[in-house]
Amino acid sequence: MVGLPARGKSFLARKLARYLRWLGHEARVFNVGSYRRERIGEQKPAWFFDPANAEGSQARQAVAMDALDDALRWLRGEGDVAVYDATNSTRARRELIARRCDAAGVPLLFIESICDDPAIVESNIRATKLLSPDYVGVDTEEALRDFRARIANYQRAYQPVDDPELSFVKVIDGGRQVVVNRVDGPLLARVVALLLNLRLTRRTLWLTRHGESQYNVRGRIGGDADLSPRGEEFARALAAHFQPPPVDPAKGGEWTASAPHPTNAGRAPGLEVWTSTLKRSVQTARHLGIATTPWRQLDEIDAGVCDGLTYDEVRRQMPELAAARERDKLRFRYPQGESYLDVIHRLDPLILELERQTAPTLIIAHQAVLRALYAYLVGEPVEHCPHQSIPLHTVIEITPNAYGCDERRTVLAPRVEERRSIAPSP
Ligand code: F6P
Repeated sequence: MVGLPARGKSFLARKLARYLRWLGHEARVFNVGSYRRERIGEQKPAWFFDPANAEGSQARQAVAMDALDDALRWLRGEGDVAVYDATNSTRARRELIARRCDAAGVPLLFIESICDDPAIVESNIRATKLLSPDYVGVDTEEALRDFRARIANYQRAYQPVDDPELSFVKVIDGGRQVVVNRVDGPLLARVVALLLNLRLTRRTLWLTRHGESQYNVRGRIGGDADLSPRGEEFARALAAHFQPPPVDPAKGGEWTASAPHPTNAGRAPGLEVWTSTLKRSVQTARHLGIATTPWRQLDEIDAGVCDGLTYDEVRRQMPELAAARERDKLRFRYPQGESYLDVIHRLDPLILELERQTAPTLIIAHQAVLRALYAYLVGEPVEHCPHQSIPLHTVIEITPNAYGCDERRTVLAPRVEERRSIAPSP
């Protein structure tokens, strides 16, 4: 990574590592700020980052090289992609990194985040830096002043990436413009695709499975059944949960945050609703009163030859298949159907679309598909994803915060019991 402080580098770094891990690569962020805090100490004042401060510069260089060495060591072992998260804001520093990577035979891509919009920088400082261990217990105004002074110190020595021989991507103003230079190969193509779509907006997402279907009642896998009466009841409860908040008469009928609805989530302004193309998902959205977007990518895992069977029937009629699925549920591919890994890969374009659009979004889909989406959103290891609990009639609210996301689960009426899956959680 390259860029001044508060340019969203760590946000990009974490998103990138999480996306690549989700696609099955071993990816990890090496954050030099954490090394500095651990080895030199937190709460270093702005003058410590002054390029004219020889002692500070040496100490920062030493921890930066420690982090780089650790990254290269990790790449020699199990790692595929190390995201080296630091300012790396001078040519000299980047040349040093390039030499070390070259010696280790590691290809290098610079991702530079440039942002001159003071509003974005300010909101970045407030959303992340003020919460950092560097400013625990420090008065907000004092912390802001110090952090701006730290940025100014880096700014004096800053040299943008400009060598046309280098492999680089420049992300300008949070994705308004993206410049790509000498980027080649399938892995880096995914990196560029994500960077082209990432927005800095933090918005809430809600995930829910469709209401109980006639197939759920019988414990049958797959299919395209209608909702059961209880599923229909859930569809109505969901609509009530997402009702627009009541108007505030004191504000001339306009909705304001001062008039939150006491019992429901409140319809976020501009709420988008995505469903799969299957009947049970579309029917679950029908009382919301919002135009919905049906996505084929959100259709449930294709159970191939097992579609329409119950888990017991699968066990009795195809014991070897059931055992193979229990052994490796992530990679097991139903004959003529899909595996969880296949689902992840078909969701990839949808993830990019989700990252690109900035509206709060409710996704009404299915168990396996939501497990895969959830793993991406919360950064859970993909190995765990086929066992993740995503019960029926439960709305999962995911809101990004400075370093990850907050999650809240709301169970809506009516409660339902579900039959066991072929491969229960370990
Ligand atoms: O049982 C409902 C369902 O959505 C099936 O259609 C699908 O095959 C299954 O869940 C996925 O869950 P698991 O991978 O645990 O079988």
